[in-house]
Amino acid sequence: MSRIVEKYAELPKPLRKPLWQWWHRTMNKYDSENAANFMNYGYESLNGDPRLELVNGDETDRYCIQLYDHVVNRADVAGKKLLEVGSGRGGGASYITRYYKPESYVGMDISESSIDFCNEHYNVEGLSFKCGVAEKLPFEDNSFDFVVNVESARCYNDMQAFFNEVYRVLKPDGKLLLADMIYPKELEEFHARLDKSKFKKVHETNISKNVVAALEKDSERREHLIDTKAPRILRKSFKTFAGTLGTSRYNNFANGIFEYWSFVLEK
Ligand SMILES: C[S@@+](CC[C@H](N)C(=O)[O-])C[C@H]1O[C@@H](n2cnc3c(N)ncnc32)[C@H](O)[C@@H]1O
Repeated sequence: MSRIVEKYAELPKPLRKPLWQWWHRTMNKYDSENAANFMNYGYESLNGDPRLELVNGDETDRYCIQLYDHVVNRADVAGKKLLEVGSGRGGGASYITRYYKPESYVGMDISESSIDFCNEHYNVEGLSFKCGVAEKLPFEDNSFDFVVNVESARCYNDMQAFFNEVYRVLKPDGKLLLADMIYPKELEEFHARLDKSKFKKVHETNISKNVVAALEKDSERREHLIDTKAPRILRKSFKTFAGTLGTSRYNNFANGIFEYWSFVLEK
């Protein structure tokens, strides 16, 4: 199972959707107290920025929230229409809607059970959730000011189709705010896809060190969550997926085998 996590992007494409469905159903089953609202590796500031102010209930998810904050804080999203593709368990959607006050925020994910979870779990004004696939977005042309995408694009069967679809649903001058992990050897191909979809690059930042610092600070919390919630047989693969200290996923980030990049891309 840990090998499946490590080799996800090399799995046959037809397996990807069922695998995500299974993953979300498993999380819903074992996390009955809804303790896991994020599924990303997190971000820690390394240049002495003031500490992000969070209300009490959000402190537990600080590092995952900081990744979302890094992604949106370079854009003026207040009062605007936002779509998130691959919103997972909705923690980032809830954070941005509560703290940045967009006019509306739609969280979209391929997994019905994650959307059911989000619809039951969150009650935030302006925030809604919808099931859909990244490669064929169920939205009209020119309907959003911003599309948010955190640690999800790498999973898609057709990343080019995703970029084209985001370009289509964004209003003129709208922006795609994206962060994801990537193998250094894949970067060139990633840029070629962006160029093909006509996006202009506004920011491009290697945040690998920020992600490693976040994983180091958040590892104990992640391990505890997995040790107390997950059945013993799944713990090792969950820890690999969560990038806790000592796992191949953490080591790959720490040793530069995997990088983590963030982008602001303009239509
Ligand atoms: C690693 S999780 C990240 C979730 C969330 N962005 C976060 O940071 O907590 C990746 C998410 O992308 C979703 N996903 C995978 N393939 C997708 C697709 N083709 N279309 C839409 N969502 C997809 C998965 O179901 C999962 O919720």
